[in-house]
Amino acid sequence: MIRARIFTKYFYFSFAIFSLFVLPQAKAQSPGLSNLTCEHLSDPLGIDAASPRLSWQMTDSSRGARQTAYQVWVGTDSLSLLSGHADAWHTSKIASDSMLVHYQGKPLAPFTRYYWKVMVWDEHGKTSSSRIAHFETGLMNKSNWQGFWISDDKDKNFKPAPYFRKVFSLHKKIRSARAYIAVAGLYELYINGHRIGDHRLDPMYTRFDRRNMYVTYDVTSELKDGDNALGVLLGNGWYNLQSTAVWHFDQAPWRNRPAFCMDLRITYDDGNVQTISTDKSWKTSTGPVIFNSIYTGEHYDARLEQLGWNTTHFNDSSWRTVIIRSAPSPNIVAQAMQPIRHVEAIPALSTTKKDDSTYLFDIGRNIAGVSKITVEGEAGTVLRLKYAERLDSNGYADQSNIDVHYRPTDDSDPFQTDIFILNGKGRESFTTRFNYKGFQYVQVTSSKPVKLSKESLTAYFMHSDVAPVGNIHSSNPTINKIWAATNHSYLSNFFGYPTDCPQREKNGWTGDAHIASETGLYNFDGITVYEKWMADHRDEQQPNGVLPSIIPSNGWGYEWGNGPDWTSTIAIIPWNLYLFYGDAQALADNYANIKRYVDHIDYLYPNGLTTWGLGDWVPVKSKSPVEFSSSIYYYADALILSKAAQLFHKPDDEKRYTALAEKIKNAINDKYLDRATGIYDKGYQTELSMPLFWGVVPEELRHKVAGNLAAAVQKNNNHLDVGILGAKAILSALSDNGYPEVAYALAAQETYPSWGWWIVNGATTLYENWKIDSKSDISLNHIMFGEIGAWLYKGIGGIRPDEKAPGFKHILLTPHFIKELRYFDADHEGPYGKIVSSWKRADGQIRYTVVIPPNSTATLHLDDLDGKKVYLGNEEMRNNGNIELTAGHYQFVIR
Ligand code: BGC
Repeated sequence: MIRARIFTKYFYFSFAIFSLFVLPQAKAQSPGLSNLTCEHLSDPLGIDAASPRLSWQMTDSSRGARQTAYQVWVGTDSLSLLSGHADAWHTSKIASDSMLVHYQGKPLAPFTRYYWKVMVWDEHGKTSSSRIAHFETGLMNKSNWQGFWISDDKDKNFKPAPYFRKVFSLHKKIRSARAYIAVAGLYELYINGHRIGDHRLDPMYTRFDRRNMYVTYDVTSELKDGDNALGVLLGNGWYNLQSTAVWHFDQAPWRNRPAFCMDLRITYDDGNVQTISTDKSWKTSTGPVIFNSIYTGEHYDARLEQLGWNTTHFNDSSWRTVIIRSAPSPNIVAQAMQPIRHVEAIPALSTTKKDDSTYLFDIGRNIAGVSKITVEGEAGTVLRLKYAERLDSNGYADQSNIDVHYRPTDDSDPFQTDIFILNGKGRESFTTRFNYKGFQYVQVTSSKPVKLSKESLTAYFMHSDVAPVGNIHSSNPTINKIWAATNHSYLSNFFGYPTDCPQREKNGWTGDAHIASETGLYNFDGITVYEKWMADHRDEQQPNGVLPSIIPSNGWGYEWGNGPDWTSTIAIIPWNLYLFYGDAQALADNYANIKRYVDHIDYLYPNGLTTWGLGDWVPVKSKSPVEFSSSIYYYADALILSKAAQLFHKPDDEKRYTALAEKIKNAINDKYLDRATGIYDKGYQTELSMPLFWGVVPEELRHKVAGNLAAAVQKNNNHLDVGILGAKAILSALSDNGYPEVAYALAAQETYPSWGWWIVNGATTLYENWKIDSKSDISLNHIMFGEIGAWLYKGIGGIRPDEKAPGFKHILLTPHFIKELRYFDADHEGPYGKIVSSWKRADGQIRYTVVIPPNSTATLHLDDLDGKKVYLGNEEMRNNGNIELTAGHYQFVIR
C-alpha cells in the first residue's frame, strides 16, 4: 500500500511534468467516466450484497456538463460485455442523472466474478463508456461454507498464540483460487511461507456472538504444482481479551480461545472446483507469540520460532491435531470494507540513550499504530518497548495519562508495552501483529546492554485505510495544523469502528463518533466503515430500542452514558452518510432501529424532554443542564426519522415523527428559552449554540440568539466555554448566523482554552481536555473536540451538502472571506467529483475560484461583502445574494 501510494504520487508528478511540456493546451478534462465502484469499493472481491450498489463519476470539466441518461451492463463474460451483451443484467437507456444504482438483474451466484460497465449520455446526447469494472461475490450464504471451525485444545486463559498448518497437493492447471477465511479473533494467513495480503488486525471487531466477518483473497499466484502449505496464526483481538480493565472485556460473553474457518476454493482450467478446508487434518502448535492483547501489547520470544512452519518442508510430527469448534455466531458475513493497514511508515526523529540499556525514541508526532525494532544481541536478552504519549520531567516515557483504567492482576502484562526476547542469531526485527497503541515515544529497555540508533526503530501509523477526500490550506499556519491534527486524531480512532482514543480505551464511544462524523466524511471516504459500524449497532440494540454507550460492547454501557447525546449515532450517522454520499442505504437499513430508539425515548419521556445522558462532557467551566442537551439530540433524531419517513414514502410515520419533533422543540423552547431576551437558560455558550446548530430556535429569534452567542463569546475574550456538545455546535452556530469572524476568532485562538492552545504547545493530535495539565481526562489523542475539521469546510470554505439533493448533487456554497486570512483553499472529492472553493486576497480584491463537478450544481451565496461587487470575468453578477452555478470552473472577482 505504501509503495502503491508513492508510485501514484510519482506517477502524478511525472504526468504533471509531461503535461507541462507536451500538453500545454490540455487543460479541460475530456469527457469520460471514472471511479467505478461496487458497494463503494473499487473492483471488490467477496461481496455478499444481493443487490450491490454500482456507482461512477463523469470526468467532464466543461461548463454545465451533466448526465441525462445511463445504461448499465453486468455479466460474467467480460468479452461479450465489450460487444454489449450481458448475461446478468442490462438496463435500457434510462433517462436519469443518477450515478448510483442498485443491481437489479438475475440473482447473483456465489463465488462469481461479474464484469460491469456503464454508458452515459451527456447534455448534448453525447455518450461516454466506462472501462470494464468487476466485482466478485463471496459465499453469499453461510450454507456455502465447506470448512469446520477449528482451534487447538487450549482454554481461553492460555497465553501463547496458536499456529495451524496443512499441506496439500495440486496437480492440475489452476485458473483461479480464492481463500475465504472467517476468524473469531485475529489472524495472519500464509501460503507457502508468504503472508497473504497487507491487512492488519483482520477481521474487524464485531459483537462476535452475533456477527463474524470473513475476508476474501485472490491467491491464484500463490499456489504451485505439487505440494503447498497453508499456515494460519491466530491472535486474540477483542475476542479473547486477557487483559483486565474497568470495562471487563475479559468477561465478554463471547470470550473463547480464537478459532477460524477457511475454504481455499480452487477452480481448475477444466472448470472443476476443489475446496481445501479446515478440518481435522490440520495440525497445531504454539510458537514465538507467547502473549498478545489488543489492549496492552504483545510478547514475542524469538527463541521459540519454528522456522519454515508455514512451508511444505517442515517436520510437524510434534504438532498436535486440531479440535472442531462450534461457529462463534450464526451470522458469518463478508468484510466488504477498507481494511486496517500500516498506512504510513514514520522513521524515528531522534533517539536518546538514557543508559546502556535504556533508549528513548521520539517519532515526532502522536499516532496510533505499532513500531518495528531491529536489533542485535545475545540470545535471551529481553527488550521491553514501552509506548507513551508524553515524557515525565526526567525525559522517560510517562503513561500516567492513559493507564488509569487498566487493572492488571500481576506484572506480567504491562500497559502499552511489548516484550521481545532475542534469539541471538544476528539482526532480528519485531513488529506487533495483534495489537496497536497510541504513542509518540517508545522507551526501549533491555536486560543486557544493546546498541540502538535512530535507525533501529520505525513507527507505522495504522488505521482503516480510507482514502483522503478533502484538503484545507490557509494563510494561517495554526489553522493548517489544527486541520492536520484533527485528521490525525480522526484516523487514530478509526479501526473498523470509530474509537475514542487509541491508548486508554479503544472503545467505540458513540458520542465521540457522531460528533466527529462530519469531520470524517469531509476528509475521508469512510462510508464502508460506518456502514459496518451501523450493523454493529443493530447487533447491540435491545428489543426495546436501547443502545449501549460503546459499540461493539460486551454488555457494558447499557446502564451508563447511553442517552441520546451519545447513542443518537443510530440516526445521525446514517443521515450524514445520506448527505455526503447521496446514498440512503444506511438510512434504510437502520430505519426500524431509529424508530424503536425514538419510540423508546418517547415512551420514557412523554413530555418531550429527556434527562437521559451525560451532557456537555469535559466542559471548560460552565455546565449546561443534561436535560437541555439530551433533549436537543432527541429532537435531532425525531427530525431525521421524519425526513427518512418522507424519503421512504411512509406518510403515517412522517406525520407522527414530524409532530413528535415539533413537540420536543416546543418543550425545549418553552422550558429553556426566554423569548424576550433570546437567551436559553443561563446563556452559556453551549446553551446558545446547540439550539442554533440543531435548528431548535424559532426562526424569528434566530438572529437575536446568534447575537447573544456572539456577545457571550466576545465577552469571554473570544475564548471557548464549552464541552464536547457545545464544541460541536458553536462554530457553525456563529458562522451560519451572521458571525463568521467571531467563529474564526474562536477557531484561530491560540491561548487557553482553544484548539490553537494545544497546537502552540506542540500538539499533533487533538486532546481530550482543554487543560493541558489536567489531572484526569487527558488522553492526547481524542477526536471528540474534532468538529473544527468539518467547520473549516463549512464555515470558511463554505462547501455544504444540500439535503434536498444530497451527495453534493447540489452544493450549498457559502464561503466566508475572513478578514484575517490572506487565502483559504478547501476542496472535497464528493460522489460527483472534486468540489473546489478557494479564495485569495490580492490588490484589494478577492479572487474566488470555484469548481463544481460534472452532473452537479451549486447555489453560491455571498454575504458580508462590505458593499463590494461580484464579477465573473468582466460581467457583474446580478444576484439577490444567490448565484446559481452549473458544473464547471469559475473564477470570480470581488471588488
Ligand atoms: C471516553 C470518552 C467518552 C466518555 C463518555 C470517556 O472515558 O474516553 O471519549 O465519550 O468517556 O463519558
